Amino acid sequence: NGHGPLAGKRVVITAGPTREPIDPVRYISNHSSGKMGYAVAAAARDAGATVVLISGPVNIPVPVGVEVRNVLTAEDMLRESAVAVDAGCDLFVATAAVADYRPETCAGDKIKKSSEQMSLPLVRNPDTLATIAAREDAPFTVGFAAETSDVARYATEKLQRKKLKMVVANDVSTPGMGFNSDNNVVTVFWPDGQEAIGPDSKQQIAARLVALIGEHLDRAAD
Ligand code: PMT
Repeated sequence: NGHGPLAGKRVVITAGPTREPIDPVRYISNHSSGKMGYAVAAAARDAGATVVLISGPVNIPVPVGVEVRNVLTAEDMLRESAVAVDAGCDLFVATAAVADYRPETCAGDKIKKSSEQMSLPLVRNPDTLATIAAREDAPFTVGFAAETSDVARYATEKLQRKKLKMVVANDVSTPGMGFNSDNNVVTVFWPDGQEAIGPDSKQQIAARLVALIGEHLDRAAD
């Protein structure tokens, strides 16, 4: 689509969960299915963009015409995202549900059960979105925010703290919306405005989001 709102743009999108190993057979993860990020990738492709998807482990098909780099951990996600952005990127969209913490070490052998209680030391993971947004040559950067309360307040706080152009706030406390569902309801915030989208299918939400990003990208370029 050479005439779409993202014609000629290079887009990098993160999607899905990350998996943080505890030992050879166990990990910490979350319920992200990748559906939202894959829908954004397909919508960006339909809008004329060249799309690279940095994807955690999911069980859904890659949209035709989209290049995918599969990753497991948050550290992998940052590394592969940086490689993709280095290769040229006009727009970066972070839909992935990245684990904020990982086990301090991954045990070499399966951990045996012993005492009644055990604790697992965790350390902070790098933040892919914040790292990309802080680059001197940062692309137009859009984050997602999954919240269960005070959605608007946390979303606008993320917009400022992570230096984003837009943030897509997701109230994941609504049953049937957000994680691992086909539908979603979001509010998109930018520094001087906002727009509510949905409830609707993730495909429809992605199409409107991409159109909205297209309008703002042009404004940023003026
Ligand atoms: O995959 P689905 O089942 O379709 O579900 C979609 C979704 C609910 C996962 C998605 O719509 C969504 O809201 N994604 C963001 C989930 C999230 O973990 O948000 P957060 O508030 O923890 O993170 C804020 C932003 O920073 C996100 O853009 C996230 O990708 C990014 N981030 C966070 C931590 C980290 N270490 N690296 C990051 O890049």
